[in-house]
Amino acid sequence: MEHVIDRVLLDETALQAKVQELGERITRDYEGKDLLVVGILKGSLLFMADLLRAIRIPLEIDFMALSSYGSGASTSGEVRILKDLDQSIENRHVLVVEDVIDTGLTLNYLMDNLKSRGAASVKVCTILDKPERRRVAMTVDYNGFTIPDEFVVGYGLDYAQQYRHLPFVAVLKREVYGG
Ligand code: PRP
Ligand code: MN
Ligand code: MG
Repeated sequence: MEHVIDRVLLDETALQAKVQELGERITRDYEGKDLLVVGILKGSLLFMADLLRAIRIPLEIDFMALSSYGSGASTSGEVRILKDLDQSIENRHVLVVEDVIDTGLTLNYLMDNLKSRGAASVKVCTILDKPERRRVAMTVDYNGFTIPDEFVVGYGLDYAQQYRHLPFVAVLKREVYGG
């Protein structure tokens, strides 16, 4: 991978330490509550799997897949649900798990959508946050790392569907994505 990676931004040790910390906070905050952890496919996959193992209370898991709104400069923020939850979330405490919050458009739509279904609470946990790119104001309940606006891959994040499996977060070389 050395030929495509400019530098490692967050190594495996740093990621895993942060995941443990987030898992402990979530464990404390949701003790005694009916918790449903919802992973957003596909980016959340690696973080979701690690985070779940760090949460020490009963919980259920589910997944959603959302259409990306495209790469056009003037996106409407319109998001389509490609795979919905398998169950009702009425009166349940929902924790949405994401790999990265960028413009915030995906989550902004999703949080409103889930709240309208009568959930007891809807919160979000992301391993990465890129606030410089935000286009809608957004409360991030649990954040692993705030990162600069650079093209990063790994730990679930892709470039053209590649590099998701890397156990670290790295900045891609410019020549790879033609930036
Ligand atoms: C990426 C990322 C987040 C979303 C963040 O998903 O995994 O879900 O974009 O962007 P936003 O804050 O600007 O809405 P993507 O649509 O690329 O799908 P993927 O998870 O399958 O890679
Ligand atoms: Mn995603
Ligand atoms: Mg993607």
